[in-house]
Amino acid sequence: MNVLVTAGPTREPIDPVRFISNRSTGKMGFAVAQAAAEAGHSVTLIAGPVSLPTPPGVRRVDVTTALEMLAAVERELPACEIYVSAAAVADWRPETCAPTKLKKNVMDGVLRLVPNPDILKTIRPLKGARRFVGFAAETGEPTAEATRKLREKGLDLIVANDVTTPGAGFAVETNRVTLFFPDGRREALPLLSKHEVAQRLIECLQSL
Ligand code: CTP
Repeated sequence: MNVLVTAGPTREPIDPVRFISNRSTGKMGFAVAQAAAEAGHSVTLIAGPVSLPTPPGVRRVDVTTALEMLAAVERELPACEIYVSAAAVADWRPETCAPTKLKKNVMDGVLRLVPNPDILKTIRPLKGARRFVGFAAETGEPTAEATRKLREKGLDLIVANDVTTPGAGFAVETNRVTLFFPDGRREALPLLSKHEVAQRLIECLQSL
């Protein structure tokens, strides 16, 4: 199958030297791309700014902002059967990006933000027979938020975790996740390497 994966954070510029972003390192999304390629799928990985090598056999498209990621997803979606949205897309961006470095004596301490599009919701009308998978990284027990996002984003599966659990946060090699399905089924996985989580996810997708 053709699998499209997004990974990493997005970066929203304030001026040529500053940005807002988040703590995503891209490890989970890159592990999904690698596991899908190892399982014999044809994989395109749309990556935000991360310092990770491209997994063997994976076609990589680099982007910086949420708007660039949305444009890349819209371009690549028609050719894919499975879309795995593992990126930590910034929900907000500065209203304007200053063309030159903002000097502290001209800043009034207020940074105006505007909402970024929700990529999954934007492409939902194009879903057709495709399978969509989301991620929900929460601080606290994730069930309520995971089931809300599964429903609101029209997903076939959501991978949820509590990033405050030891071994399940950012920049670590492991994760402890629960898979939630639209029929109410759920599968809680033990603490595993991100590669093992990705392998289990790909197995699930093959049987969806
Ligand atoms: N997502 C997306 N576009 C966005 C934000 C999120 O496609 N602008 C996707 C993520 O890739 C993930 C899922 O939506 O698969 C859930 O992301 P999350 O940040 O947890 O959810 P939000 O919709 O941003 O909700 P909230 O801020 O209320 O937690």
